[in-house]
Amino acid sequence: MKQKVIIALFFWMFFLLSACTNTPPKELEAVKPEEQVPHVGKEGPIRIGFAMDSFLEERWLRDREMFKESVEALGAEVEIVAAYGNDALQISQAETLIQSGIDLLVIVPHNSEATAAIVHKAHLEGIKVIAYDRLVKNADLDLYVSFDNERVGELQAEAITALVPKGNYVFIGGAITDNNAHLLKKGVFNVLRPYIERGDITIVYDQWTKDWTPVNAKANMEEALRTTNMQIDAVIVANDATAGGVIQALAAVGLAGQVPVTGQDADLAGVQRIVAGTQTMTVYKPLHMLSQEIAKLAVAMAKGEDVITERKVNNGKIEVPSVLLTPTAVDKDNVESTVIADGFHSLEDVYRATSKE
Ligand code: GAL
Repeated sequence: MKQKVIIALFFWMFFLLSACTNTPPKELEAVKPEEQVPHVGKEGPIRIGFAMDSFLEERWLRDREMFKESVEALGAEVEIVAAYGNDALQISQAETLIQSGIDLLVIVPHNSEATAAIVHKAHLEGIKVIAYDRLVKNADLDLYVSFDNERVGELQAEAITALVPKGNYVFIGGAITDNNAHLLKKGVFNVLRPYIERGDITIVYDQWTKDWTPVNAKANMEEALRTTNMQIDAVIVANDATAGGVIQALAAVGLAGQVPVTGQDADLAGVQRIVAGTQTMTVYKPLHMLSQEIAKLAVAMAKGEDVITERKVNNGKIEVPSVLLTPTAVDKDNVESTVIADGFHSLEDVYRATSKE
């Protein structure tokens, strides 16, 4: 009896401990090895370089603001640049940051392969590099912090197969140059595979979307409608921006709201379409968690502290120490308990164009 009580107590304590480490996970904590001296040989505050891909989507504007705030709250400075999909420009911007004497570089790569050159150049100057949200492949990257992007794809496919277990599916992916687009596709097909093998689901169109732009996604959807003679039962779309383009193409043939469509990012426009009924779901990724944790780890690493992570992700060259945060599926039913409850969007904004029943 006594033994049973002890075992139950042990499990209860274990449960409490894991609940406590939920946000932020314990793996995010920076530890300082005894030998290392923080920020040696330099005057003034820590300077972080933040080389972004673009500010053209709502999420990246939020990332920019939140990351800046978080870094400054830690008493450090951040210099932010964006290359708008231009690989050569992203490399030269990073070089300029490196030469300007930053203590650490954080990068959102446009091209997961091309940016390996940046990591190499930074290391030559003794500067560590953190991949923000998107992995840099084939490089000695120091840290990768993102959401579980494979899970994002699984959440999308789980939501749509629950609604449409049989039929013709269109897959409109993200940018082929972005590792996240590949992970998402893997997640989607993890879920779809058994349906396809049973013959319940047929993939009638499958295409990447150059640079994740709505206009390219719209063109893809128009092609899908044309080549299938509009025989489409569901569309899995990689993010909300591209879903916007897809829904425009569907609206042009009177199919908006008739065919389930997925998304990702919980962009305001995406969430508004969800409550209006033209988009089925999105995937919410709490960006404040991402930006705060990267800021914390970046400043710690810049000071010479070691960062311990529980996970590692293979980038083709090394096992990169990694932190992967958890995404959440959002539809009409849980929009209030997720993005609105979290303050990601206000109730007024979400229902601005629709009347809430
Ligand atoms: C991905 C990211 C998404 C989406 C997309 C387009 O890498 O995971 O959240 O924003 O880029 O910018």
